[in-house]
Amino acid sequence: GQHILSVKQFDRDNIQYIFQIARKMAPYASRKKRTKVLDGAILGNLFFEPSTRTRVSFGCAFNLLGGEVRETTGMESSALSKGESLYDTARVISSYSDVIAMRHPQAGSVAEFAEGSRVPVLNGGDGANEHPTQALLDLFTIERELQASGQSIDGMHIAMVGDLKFGRTVHSLSKLLALYKNLQITLISPQELAMPDEVVSALDNAGHRLTITDKLEGNLNADIVYQTRIQEERFPSKAEANQYRGKFRLNQEIYTRHCKSNTVIMHPLPRDSRLEANELDNDLNLNPNLAIFRQADNGILVRMALFALTLGVQDLVQDYECTVPW
Ligand code: CP
Repeated sequence: GQHILSVKQFDRDNIQYIFQIARKMAPYASRKKRTKVLDGAILGNLFFEPSTRTRVSFGCAFNLLGGEVRETTGMESSALSKGESLYDTARVISSYSDVIAMRHPQAGSVAEFAEGSRVPVLNGGDGANEHPTQALLDLFTIERELQASGQSIDGMHIAMVGDLKFGRTVHSLSKLLALYKNLQITLISPQELAMPDEVVSALDNAGHRLTITDKLEGNLNADIVYQTRIQEERFPSKAEANQYRGKFRLNQEIYTRHCKSNTVIMHPLPRDSRLEANELDNDLNLNPNLAIFRQADNGILVRMALFALTLGVQDLVQDYECTVPW
């Protein structure tokens, strides 16, 4: 059982292996088949920052493998609010659990927690730093979406849009993209919210062709457009975040004018649907190339694979019933 703290621990071979296991999870994820491979195992699901998809899909993925989930949500409901250290929290919770998934607002906090943990820890997002399981599900989605039109990740053109400074999903995804070949990458953000130098260097060193711009229109002619939310919670004040909200709206009219006919639209979600932001308009919901919900669905498959691999049961998944009663 290895921790999953950063995408830096993966290479192309182990990514392909994770994806192979993820594809095998599909009948269990859709409840066509059932398994109890993790019967008796306990997931400690510790979310000290808001989450819908990551928290619930980690929990569901564990349940679908037959395991049980214990949750802590929010700093206020944890003894961390009384000054307990991450290390002590980890020593305690890890004796109650077989594996832990964790999100925390501070960069580096999940790695600090992992030092005290006696069981594997999966990073569900640490501040603006990394979100490795999201990056894996994003890459899995990109591979699937491109395969539909006979393309591969090598050689593709991806545009990443929005808050590239605080958006941890684009940091982790970019570090994975540095493992691939000959990409065209367009980074679209306000200058103040540009991709961190460390990430740009990783893409540069991989030999990818980079365009860095603060203009959306004219720069969306990509295979994948990966839109992001302004990460309001990472700004010193709401007013500062508000300066940028709504700068990079994408709707069907802009799509028709600036994207290719088969450009795939992704977003890690949540999208900010309030009118002043509205980075992905609801009028795209009928666009078959809007992949945001397929992307979220893939999170279950990838997280099931990561649990199976982390706990070493990937070859032991067997059906105990071939049909479900509902
Ligand atoms: N994509 C993602 O991390 O979503 P949540 O914040 O809802 O978990």
